[in-house]
Amino acid sequence: GLPERVTIYEVGPRDGLQNESAIVPVEVKAEFVARLAAAGHRVIETTSFVHPTWVPQLADASELLAGLERVPGVRYPVLVPNQRGLDRALEHGVREIAVFASATETFARKNLNRTLESQFEMFEPVVARALDHGLTVRAYVSMCFGDPWEGPTPAGQVVAVGRRLLDLGCSELSLGDTVGVGTPGHVSALIEAFGGPSRLAVHFHDTYGQALANTLAALQAGVTVVDASTGGIGGCPYAESATGNLATEDLVWMLHGLGVETGLNLESLVETSTWLAAKLGRPSPSRVVQALGTA
Ligand code: HMG
Ligand code: MG
Repeated sequence: GLPERVTIYEVGPRDGLQNESAIVPVEVKAEFVARLAAAGHRVIETTSFVHPTWVPQLADASELLAGLERVPGVRYPVLVPNQRGLDRALEHGVREIAVFASATETFARKNLNRTLESQFEMFEPVVARALDHGLTVRAYVSMCFGDPWEGPTPAGQVVAVGRRLLDLGCSELSLGDTVGVGTPGHVSALIEAFGGPSRLAVHFHDTYGQALANTLAALQAGVTVVDASTGGIGGCPYAESATGNLATEDLVWMLHGLGVETGLNLESLVETSTWLAAKLGRPSPSRVVQALGTA
């Protein structure tokens, strides 16, 4: 069976905009986040407190949060890799953070400048201090199905990394297919390797056109939190060939077609994507936006 309701965890302002070659003005980011909340989103990953030279696209995180109008009932998590990032997030009254680990050795080095083992030394004190402050902590595992340097990722390796993060007290674990190589059978097998869907979310990139099929496999396995990005923008600058996230509009089209509730207004989402595409200077890769959009 399928869940009655799915929570869409919107990552456009973070995973989407971190990969744009042009720097998007902070006012545009603020309007983007406001439009997402108005379209019905209840969780919007807003920005990252990572090193500003590693991701210059989000170097304005403090400025964005300082001016952000928060809608009651909407969660605005931010990405935080280390203590310095947590300091910055706490200065802005952030209530929810997300740490992000790698399932593979090569990507841990490339994305975090750490080894697979030493990434935990970075996250452990961050999660502990965040929990002390009463924050909610989500964790990501990247390269869950394969990485461009090491090939397919063994499920046991993903489970080992994921379990350690959950054991630190993270409330949710998002399984990231950073380079989009997984297919539905891999998804069901990985969820089974975790012993079921409890506390799991999924995060698919559509590089090989598998994101919706993979999502359906995850829903059938009992997952109810799905990450998606407005208009299908996004990718990780430190992962070769990482292209667009699963587009929120494509996901909403499928879910509403299946009778699964999302609380989102598809028309406003498409309007926001069309508006954003004009700001970014190129059309949205989302099929639903292309079918319904006006630009
Ligand atoms: P490092 O160079 O090892 O940092 O980078 P360090 O700890 O050695 O510190 C060096 C200097 O940087 C220090 O300054 C720190 O204060 C400063 P100094 O004392 O020399 O003057 N510094 C900072 N400044 C501001 N904010 C900070 C910060 N941290 C250190 N947070 C680090 C390690 C983790 C910081 C770096 O590798 C980094 O920022 N990586 C982030 C890369 C990234 O954002 N990637 C994209 C997000 S992940 C993703 O997209 C995947 C996902 O979508 C899921 C999926 O698709 O799979 C989540
Ligand atoms: Mg991603």
